[in-house]
Amino acid sequence: MDDSQLLQIAERFGTPCYVYDAECIRRNSAAYRDALGQRGRAFYAVKANSNLSVLRLIAGAGLGFDIVSGGELARVLAAGGAPEDIVFSGVGKHPDELAQALDAGIACFNIESAAELKLLIMLTTDRLGSRAPVALRINPDIDAHTHPHITTGRAEDKFGIPAAEALDLCRQAAASPGIELIGLSCHLGSQIDQTAPLTRALEKMLELRATLRAEGVAIGHIDMGGGLAVPDGTSAPTLAIPDYIGALLDLIGEGDDAPELWLEPGRSITADAGALLTRVLLLKHNWARNFAVVDAAMNDLMRPALYSAVHAVRRLTQGEGDARIWQIAGPVCESTDMLAHDIELPLAPGDILALERTGAYGFSMSSNYNARARPCEALVDGGDCRLVRPRETQEELFASELEHLL
Ligand code: LLP
Repeated sequence: MDDSQLLQIAERFGTPCYVYDAECIRRNSAAYRDALGQRGRAFYAVKANSNLSVLRLIAGAGLGFDIVSGGELARVLAAGGAPEDIVFSGVGKHPDELAQALDAGIACFNIESAAELKLLIMLTTDRLGSRAPVALRINPDIDAHTHPHITTGRAEDKFGIPAAEALDLCRQAAASPGIELIGLSCHLGSQIDQTAPLTRALEKMLELRATLRAEGVAIGHIDMGGGLAVPDGTSAPTLAIPDYIGALLDLIGEGDDAPELWLEPGRSITADAGALLTRVLLLKHNWARNFAVVDAAMNDLMRPALYSAVHAVRRLTQGEGDARIWQIAGPVCESTDMLAHDIELPLAPGDILALERTGAYGFSMSSNYNARARPCEALVDGGDCRLVRPRETQEELFASELEHLL
């Protein structure tokens, strides 16, 4: 997406506006499909970006979906995704959500605790004769050395089944009439930029699989979750999709006995396909600092406030500007509402800026804080551009409350 195309979009749809590049999403999806070939499957983690048109594009590119709620299941089905291409992750699935997924007939439940397994067994018993395909999610106690908020595979984290209890629970699952134990799963965290923690975790999973096999329990796939890093800034990824997948497939080996490798990529499918367009409302100078106040805020893009993420800022407008070092601030009444720090650019009021690599965990984490209507979303496909979610209106934000007004 070049600057003039993005400028036109900002004029046409207004700001703030998320824009996604369809070609980039297709390219990223194809990189997973090509690297896995016949040896595995990729399930896009819907939480990264759950816009229906984005989901439809990803289904068309041949990926399945990793969901974490009934809401995400409904979205995938509404976008045209097939139930048999869906895996269900998450540490606390509501009984209603499990029932919803059983009714839909999804490919696999990634079960994270003995209590959850028990619940699923009860649900299948209630529905006489129904069987739930299950993978047990193991917590291997391996630190992926990423941001503490997005690390999930250590002993102190809430996720997964402790490795020491996994064998017993696998035996129990395999012996339960309503359960079909088809896989093992694992997710170490997000923004992982080295293969070592992943291959160590995979070794543990392969050992567990071998032990089960010796007891006559066949495990068809190992799901290594998602987590491949996409740097927030401008630097190139340190780990490319083919190398990441290659390292895992090398360990799994080939042959009739080799398990399938399943993956749940989120960020690496949509992050670099997206930009958040925002307009400079005004420039102001407080003591030693220069602030460019823009019309996007932390409610639209949480990542800088929540993880100190650094998204590159591109000025799309040409022409004169005041060249200084700017703090890019949103209008929300919180000091954490800063979208970028120390940006050296010539800026003028009315300028349009792009916050880059915001196609993942951007809109999907947005909120209505400060009673702000959330941005619109647009999808670019070559020369073509269309609105794929209109901007929220102020009225629709409180329409249901009006119906219940005191
Ligand atoms: N599978 C499971 C079970 C997950 O929990 C996640 C992400 C993924 C797959 C996808 O991971 P990815 O490939 O996108 O790294 N909001 C944070 C990221 C939270 C990730 C949560 N789980 C952020 O903005 O950085």
